[in-house]
Amino acid sequence: MNGELAPSILSFPLIELGQAVPVMVENGADWIHFDVMDGQFVPPITFGDQLVRDLRRVTQAKFEVHLMTLTPERQFDAFISAGCHRVIFHAEATVHAHRLIQQIKEAGAEAGVAINPATPVAVLEPILADIDLALVMTVNPGWGGQKLIASTLDKVRQIRALRPEMSIEVDGGIDAFTVAAAKEAGANVFVVGSHLAKADDLGSAVRNIKDLLA
Ligand code: DX5
Ligand code: ZN
Repeated sequence: MNGELAPSILSFPLIELGQAVPVMVENGADWIHFDVMDGQFVPPITFGDQLVRDLRRVTQAKFEVHLMTLTPERQFDAFISAGCHRVIFHAEATVHAHRLIQQIKEAGAEAGVAINPATPVAVLEPILADIDLALVMTVNPGWGGQKLIASTLDKVRQIRALRPEMSIEVDGGIDAFTVAAAKEAGANVFVVGSHLAKADDLGSAVRNIKDLLA
């Protein structure tokens, strides 16, 4: 399975995104990953659907939104109509994961469900057949630039054993060194944030990670 790269824009200055996003796409980024935080599910507040709509004007690339929000279903339509192809919500943020997955699919997007480092794979098992992607958080959500928590990769292994063909995404602490362990565990979609945001040459940093995923 060839890996897909999903750069997170979280650690980039917002005013630079109009230039940075096309550079990442031209150099092989498969998805652009939008980290939406509401100040409730996680402490920080980031941005809303307007940023997605604005960046939709500079690229045709696929967009995914990672909702780190309570009552995530309130945001689905806004982000899908702004141009997101995939919507990912947290299993911990709802007691109705199955219904929310159907809601995303009926709105015409792919559905992903994320689990925090302390949440077991068992939470996902009843809905694995319904989702397009499982996102295993490899750090605690809320901030870019954290160190990957190695034990989370065991959960990637467990999901891969259950679902050989399903997309499994890792998010947090992925860089040119840790990407190999995440790939070996069975991940095939890789969110990379601060590693790219701090690169001197963004295009070559993207190409370098893509080469490691091939
Ligand atoms: C964390 C976010 C991640 C984050 C990844 O809450 O979901 O997408 O931006 O950033 P790095 O790659 O810096 O860990
Ligand atoms: Zn994310």
